[in-house]
Amino acid sequence: MAKWIKIAGGVVVLAAIGAGGWAYSALNTSRSSVADDSVTLAKFTSSDAEAIKRGEYVMRMGDCAACHTREDGDFAGGYEIATPFGTLVSSNITPDTDTGIGNMTEKDFFNAVRQGIGSHGMLYPAMPYTAYAKFTDQDMHDLWAYMSTVKPVKHDVDENGGMSFPFNIRLAMAGWDMLFFKNEGFTPDSSQSEAWNRGKYIVDGGGHCSACHSPRNFLSAEKESAYLQGGSLGDWYAPDLTSNPHVGLGNTSAEDIASYLTTGSDGVAVAAGPMAEAVEHSLQYLTTDDAMAVATYLKSIPASATKPGTAPKMSDSETARLADVYEVNCSACHGLNGEGISGMVPAFAGNHGLLGDDATNLVHAMLKGARAAHTHTAQTAAGMPSFAWKMDDKDIAEILTYVRNSWGNSAAPVSADQVGAMRAALDARDQIKVAD
Ligand code: HEC
Ligand code: HEC
Ligand code: HEC
Repeated sequence: MAKWIKIAGGVVVLAAIGAGGWAYSALNTSRSSVADDSVTLAKFTSSDAEAIKRGEYVMRMGDCAACHTREDGDFAGGYEIATPFGTLVSSNITPDTDTGIGNMTEKDFFNAVRQGIGSHGMLYPAMPYTAYAKFTDQDMHDLWAYMSTVKPVKHDVDENGGMSFPFNIRLAMAGWDMLFFKNEGFTPDSSQSEAWNRGKYIVDGGGHCSACHSPRNFLSAEKESAYLQGGSLGDWYAPDLTSNPHVGLGNTSAEDIASYLTTGSDGVAVAAGPMAEAVEHSLQYLTTDDAMAVATYLKSIPASATKPGTAPKMSDSETARLADVYEVNCSACHGLNGEGISGMVPAFAGNHGLLGDDATNLVHAMLKGARAAHTHTAQTAAGMPSFAWKMDDKDIAEILTYVRNSWGNSAAPVSADQVGAMRAALDARDQIKVAD
């Protein structure tokens, strides 16, 4: 209740601020004047094969299909996104004139993708226009050429029908934009290398990495002061990507980061959940140069101040008991010494991504299982089985605490309460009780 009042109050203030200044910044669409405003997508067919190919690359980089493709057809929308303010559904962005974006001109498309001004009004920032604002004019022209090759699909979507009042009022987003949206393109830093600039362009623009890897404030805006320092996605956690040596990428080489992005593994970690999807649908398509550029840029981000958590004290007998549980249940895949299987099963030894205070991903994998990314280099993605039926909350908390504190690891313990809360939130099954 209290939370609701705070949020509702926030939006009223936002709307008031927005009304004053919006025309000048967030809604200034002069950047889109480079685009054509005479031909609609339904009537446009690009014949420029090179532009279409480049546009497909931009589409992969932006991972448009991940959110806009569901069972109703390519780019036909219908993907539901849970927000703290209700459920939002992704738009049909095929060239269909009734239910898609067939009536948009190239200029309208630029306004939607780079500025969040869509065909029904202001878009919600779950559509990552805050990042796509960085797209160059050239990338946008190419993307438009690619969109002209998409087959029109009739599929009606009521994007904000599931949002609660007052968040179903699109105008409120003008206030949000006023506060949080930077309506400006990418400015290269001439003191940095070409690779660094290309990397930053991908990370902050098309790749929209901070949409997951930065924490958000109570109005779902990314906290700039904690840029890429780790963000909660509810039932997954996107870890710290700064040079923090304990929980970030401080001890990972640029080459290893690049291979994680394009294959889903650096030989130690294996991407799971939303990151496996990002690899599968988007990042595996990056050229080697682009993947290295992203890694080069990430390696330059100063370390966050996050300190390693306090390790629990475990008695020798407790450690010995858990070592047995580990050997019986986990070692066949994760290795007797937590070494994993390179490229397929994550190691625990030296896997800093698993040592942050937020153990959401570990609990998630234990309760629901997980599947690694399917890529052109890894055709058969390895799977982690669910242990929800076999272990109770305390068992799961203990074995995770054990792996987080063995083979040189040191991290805060995982609590049975956290496992219990996630078991309920994920609707995972209960342990099967066997009479003994
Ligand atoms: C993280 C999910 C997500 C990704 C990634 C994403 N979108 Fe969206 N998109 C949405 C949602 C949700 C909406 C509906 C927002 C609304 O109605 O306020 C939307 C709306 C749109 C619209 C507006 C449609 C209209 O009729 O106004 C366009 C155009 C669009 N997206 C294009 C793209 C393109 C191009 C890409 C890739 C560069 C992309 N989107 C990537 C979630 C996403
Ligand atoms: C049949 C092989 C297999 C067994 C047995 C197994 N795992 Fe896994 N585990 C995997 C694979 C493969 C992945 C990677 C899945 C992915 O990337 O989506 C994984 C992922 C994980 C992760 C998530 C890592 C991340 O990236 O977030 C944790 C935590 C985990 N396993 C713990 C355990 C524990 C603890 C046990 C024993 C109780 C266990 N696993 C048993 C194969 C296995
Ligand atoms: C949809 C959300 C999402 C997006 C977008 C996303 N990530 Fe991730 N990322 C995650 C999650 C969740 C994990 C944890 C995966 C795991 O534990 O297996 C992760 C893990 C990683 C890791 C491994 C970290 C470690 O410590 O092992 C790297 C590196 C990474 N992401 C880089 C990126 C980059 C670069 C981008 C943008 C090009 C990006 N991610 C975009 C959600 C996302």
